[in-house]
Amino acid sequence: SKESLSGPFVGAIDAGTTSVRFIVFEAGTDNIICYHQIEVPSIYPKEGWCEQDPIFIVNTVNECIAVACKKFTDLGGSIKDIVTIGITNQRESSVVWDRTTGLPLANAIIWLDNRTSTTVEELLETIPNSARGAKINYLRPLCGLPLSPYFSAVKLRWLRDNVTSIRKAMDNGQAMFGTIDTWLMYNLTGGKNSGVHKTDVTNASRTMLMNIETLEWDHNLLKFFGLPKSILPEICSSSEYFGTLADGVLQGTSITADLGDQQAALVGQQCFSKGQAKATYGTGCFLLYNTGTSIVNSNGLLTTVGYQLGRKATPHYALEGSVSIAGAAFNWLRDNMGIIQNTAQIEAMANSVSNDGKPLDVYFVPAFNGLYAPYWNQDARGVICGLSEETTSEHIVRATLESICFQVRDILDAMHKDCKIPLSKLMVDGGMTVNNLFLQIQSDLVGIEVVRANISETTALGAAMAAYKAVDQRYSIESSLSNTAAREPIKPLINGTERNLRYQKWKMAIDRSLNWDT
Ligand code: G3P
Repeated sequence: SKESLSGPFVGAIDAGTTSVRFIVFEAGTDNIICYHQIEVPSIYPKEGWCEQDPIFIVNTVNECIAVACKKFTDLGGSIKDIVTIGITNQRESSVVWDRTTGLPLANAIIWLDNRTSTTVEELLETIPNSARGAKINYLRPLCGLPLSPYFSAVKLRWLRDNVTSIRKAMDNGQAMFGTIDTWLMYNLTGGKNSGVHKTDVTNASRTMLMNIETLEWDHNLLKFFGLPKSILPEICSSSEYFGTLADGVLQGTSITADLGDQQAALVGQQCFSKGQAKATYGTGCFLLYNTGTSIVNSNGLLTTVGYQLGRKATPHYALEGSVSIAGAAFNWLRDNMGIIQNTAQIEAMANSVSNDGKPLDVYFVPAFNGLYAPYWNQDARGVICGLSEETTSEHIVRATLESICFQVRDILDAMHKDCKIPLSKLMVDGGMTVNNLFLQIQSDLVGIEVVRANISETTALGAAMAAYKAVDQRYSIESSLSNTAAREPIKPLINGTERNLRYQKWKMAIDRSLNWDT
């Protein structure tokens, strides 16, 4: 009722790969008051390319804010009670724009885009004599990341090499670069007139240009990629004052949080202690493991910043296992194969077949754009193994579900191998976690307990929590949501022998995906 809606409230912009949303939370809680969401189309100009229109993203965010705020006032809320907002975003995706006009010089190159495989090859050639694996890991000591088309610096290098206007703008100081958080913040705070040029440590840690220890832009990394420092935003913590909204219904409201979406989910899942981990299943799947204040090096995983909640706060680090194709594999089944009509069918279809029977064990590696963690192979491609006359679309659907779970096992094994980290429990969130069968299969195939988040919007929640922390000193982010422990875990139901047998076959399928053309 109108009377019961009393503040304060916090807004969160979640600019993800497939949709943008604005969510209003009751401050300091996971109680969602209202939200609005709009799909963002990707543009595929050539095979392996993936772009989005940066202006469309800004307009969509503004529309989400306007519509959600209308719902908020219709519910009896008062706009002045939205005390601050936070931003969270798809990471790595890169925008370059002109300092004078404030307009993009090209479409955003999305994180999934694979056009830069040749750029990676060229960059690898500049690294002095060592084996390919060592070359891929050459920059890890500086930035925690392997050389891959995934990260922003490689995309920026491609833009510099291939778009004349961008090269010129970079050379004469006219170009500004940002990941999606930075681009949005610049526009929301006034664009070419008064827009701020800032990012946070979590987003910066995905560019390959930030030094993972000093948390500053690194001269050697810029030199390696041949990029000028003048294009870069200021690196801030994840929870502090960034700027003020210049227009619209929330004009005058401050922005006090900025986190990459996977790091925001780590905060939203309250994985604040060393040893806690979460997996978010969206377009891709991203497993982040909190390593506390230590920087843990790994061969197969990414070393990344988890969060830094305040200018003077100690940064927390994470190990990340990134899987590029998770939910996106179901979009492919729907849009390209016509095997499903909508994602609501997945659970029943997968449940109608059991993969236990020998002739039916089908393995699908959806390596459409190469394989990320722990393989980091840009030439891998999708394979489906184990087809027989009896194979039906239901088996393919089940194999798709299992492929996501097996990829998570790959990551957990890498964590264990590289870092001797045993995980007893995995916190999960994201759209796919509404599917009970999926979570059971996940638990079965990794052999540990899986715990579903209370709300699926943990990413936006993390941004809202970080934003509120910056404006209310009494707010204790660690103890703000008390009911986490009460969640019922999903426990593995199959035994270790069966689990390992299935996993061996998955590894055989992986082998074929990695070597499909040799
Ligand atoms: O690294 C890419 C990641 O941040 C994208 O997340 O949820 O938009 O698929 P999502």
